Parts: sequence; structure tokens; C-alpha cells
Amino acid sequence: SYLGLDLGTSGLKALLTDGEGAIIGQAEQGYPVAHPHEGWSEQDPADWVAALHDVIGALRASHPEFADLRGIAVSGQMHGATLLDKRDKVLRPCILWNDTRSHAQAAKLDADPAFRRISGNVVFPGFTAPKLLWLRDHAPDIFAQVARVLLPAAYLTHVLTGDHVGDLSDASGTSWLDVGARRWSDELLARSGMERAQMPRLVEGSAPAAELRRDLARDWGLHHPVIVAGGAGDNAATACGLGLLDEGAGAVSLGSSGVVMIARNSCEPAPDTAVHTFCHALPGRWYQMGVMLAAADNLNWLANLVSMPPQALIAELGDGIRPPGAVRYLPYLAGERTPHNNPHLRAGFSGIGAKSSRADLTRAVLEGVAFGLRDNLEALRAAGAAPNRLHAVGGGARSRYWVGVLATVLGLPIAVSNAQAGHGAALGAARLARLAATGAPVADVITPQRDTQEVLPAAEHRAAFEEAFARFQHAARAEGQGTE
Ligand code: XUL
Repeated sequence: SYLGLDLGTSGLKALLTDGEGAIIGQAEQGYPVAHPHEGWSEQDPADWVAALHDVIGALRASHPEFADLRGIAVSGQMHGATLLDKRDKVLRPCILWNDTRSHAQAAKLDADPAFRRISGNVVFPGFTAPKLLWLRDHAPDIFAQVARVLLPAAYLTHVLTGDHVGDLSDASGTSWLDVGARRWSDELLARSGMERAQMPRLVEGSAPAAELRRDLARDWGLHHPVIVAGGAGDNAATACGLGLLDEGAGAVSLGSSGVVMIARNSCEPAPDTAVHTFCHALPGRWYQMGVMLAAADNLNWLANLVSMPPQALIAELGDGIRPPGAVRYLPYLAGERTPHNNPHLRAGFSGIGAKSSRADLTRAVLEGVAFGLRDNLEALRAAGAAPNRLHAVGGGARSRYWVGVLATVLGLPIAVSNAQAGHGAALGAARLARLAATGAPVADVITPQRDTQEVLPAAEHRAAFEEAFARFQHAARAEGQGTE
């Protein structure tokens, strides 16, 4: 059997598959995010380790196949800085991908043309390099003790193997990787005050990284030595779970954050579009993505404000899609990456009248997020990616209304999974584990998802949504200028 672990922002998911890749079991354990100051977002790596032992315990108790485990891979929330001293002790809570404290350091690094040229990407505040620069400025005593910087998934791989090893897809989000050449850039490391010795060794996501520690294998009652694969950043892992490897194959994620990702056969960076260009989890493959920092989080914010579950808010809209409403919403609760690259951008409603209802606000939020994702799609097109269909994932993909609006706004058919929705990244990780442990042909393992339904654009509303999108772009640009 093979184990995929997805170290998410809200919890750790474990998925066990059999020798042919079919799902046989799963377990999940949540943990908190701390926000000690405005814009800060941290997690205690000890919580991840506790969650690891919980999910393993649950799988062992319910699935005898666990004892036959042959491979493990970890997928993770990207960009987080887990800092170890020379004895591998964690120095402080992990600074997460959605922490914006280092925006000034990010702007400083991004102003050095070497970063966009070599890493192929804007240095966004959420990326890893500016976090270390912040630390050097604000906590020099801790900075001086940093012997190793590991991304969250690589930290869990370290707990599993004792080794310091990470994968290229996750390393792409550090601003220290030469994404085209698929190796650390000594120049970028030096330009942000770091050294190669502080970085983990890198392997491809589908390659063997190290062996599971013998003491863990014994404690877990395993019958064979177990290979731990390189693993992947969560978006690359999700793409592996959905079978999205070939040029133009893509997904749209309606999670807390929003992502439009497209697989590419070559590395074509376009940092000026604020599109991310990252290594995929398999050799010789890349993907490009636009990232919205808040997607379903906008709906969660409204739901929280009116004390109703998000699903209940959506249920008030009924099933049939209506043309765009008079109330409009800009979905920028926490600044924005693509296409604006502006950490100061904020959200807002406009067009509210005396008769505007709660449902009108909900509808505006769903439409605003769809327009934000369209902005991402246009940025990807400008970078040369050309999808003709997208696969929807994330909690928001369960809403037919939202997916229908999205298909109409994007002008693309959107596939929705009937069965495996929500397994994306953990399933992708389990597939990488199988590749690393067996060397099986990629095409046998990274297969497309069956059992999907296709949601088509609502042709009768296309023109109205195009006009509304033009108004949205105009308003977003005006709002952005107000923050400069
Ligand atoms: C990607 C990103 C998010 C996190 C979420 O650049 O920041 O998608 O990976 O876990």
C-alpha cells in the first residue's frame, strides 16, 4: 500500500491506497493557525507531528493493509519557513504562506532584477526568502541560529526520514530556486543573506528521497522498508491527483485561497503578469498558476458576519444562475497576488441600495471571486498557457451555483468530480509515493479522473457577465491606485 499525506493549512490529511492506486482508507486531524499580530500567520510544527501520529494511529487501527506499506509522500502548504538549529530543533513557529509581515522585504528583493530573472517569479510577500530577511531585521538572534530552512512538507519528510530533503515543486516558491534549471541558485541565496548549506538537498517529487526511519517503521508495525518520495507543493500534488500533467491541462481551486493552474511542457516565466511559474512534481514538467489570496474565504467572512453557514447563504440563491446583480464586490480581503501584486489592496462592496438583501450580497461575493479568477486566467493566457477546460477543486466546488457562475465568467467548461473531490493533494501524494517506490510508468499512475460531470457556461448570460467583468477590472484597478 501507499500513503499520501497532505499537510494543509487547516489540518493533515492521510490517504491510503492499494498497490494499484485505489483508495482504501483516510484519516484527518486538524490544527490551529495563530495570528499573534495583524498580518501574521503561524503554526507550531509540533502540532503537525502530533497530527501525523494521530492519522497514522487511525489508519493502523482500521486498515490491516497499512502494515504492507511500501511508499509515503508528503504534499504541503507552500512557502512556509520552518527554521531548525544545528541540532534540528525547531527555532520558532513556522511563518506560513499567508503571512504578510515581510511585504517590505519582498519588495526589496523583487526590486533586484536577479530574482525575477533566475527564479522566474515575482518575490511575493508570502514566499520564503523575504521571511528570512524579515527575521534578520527583527529577530537577529534567531536568524543567527538558523542551520536549516525547510518548507512544511520537507519538515514532515525530515520527521519521517531524519534527512534534510525537499522537492523541486515546493522549492519553486522560495525565491531561491532557478526554476528553469531545477536547482538552488547560489546567486539568489547570497543576495538574500543565505547559504546553500542551510537548504535541503532537492529531488524530483516522484523520485525516492530517503528511507522511512527504521524506528518509526518498527513502531508502526510495518513489514517492509518504506521509501519516502520527494513529495510536492499542494498545487502540484493536486494536479497529480487529477492527472493534470500535459500542456494546457488545468484546474481551478475554490479553497480558502483561489488558484488557476495550468500544466506546461516547458518553462516560460512571465513574472510581469504576476503569474507563478513553478516546477511540476515530475521531471521535465512545469506549471503556471495565478493565485488569489482569498477565494472561499470571502464567503466565509460574510457567513461569519451574518452568523450563517456558508452553504446556507448559497442555498438562499436557488439553483438557476441569474445575470450579474447590481451589488458588486472586490474580493481582496488580504491584498492580492495575481494579477495585482499588491499586499495593500482591500475588499469592498459597492452598488448597495435600500432594497439590497443578504442574498444580493452573497451573489456579489460569488461573482466577485469568479471575476478575480477570470483575471488570473487572463494573466495565464498572457503568459502563453491555453486551457480549454478546467477541473474544479476545493470546498467551493461543491456549490453548483458558484461553479456555474465560474464556468460562465471564465467561458470554459468546468469538470467537477463526483467521487474523489477533496482527495486531490493527498491522492497526488500517494501517487508520487507509488512512483518513487516502484518506478512504475508515469502514465500508469498519474491517470485522469474518471467519474466527473461537466458544467458548461450559461450561454444566455455570457454577454452580461463579460460587461460586468469589464466593470470589475476597472473598479479593481481604481482601488489598487488608491493604495499606492
Ligand atoms: C501557492 C499558495 C497556496 C498555498 C496553499 O502559491 O500560496 O496555494 O500553497 O496551501
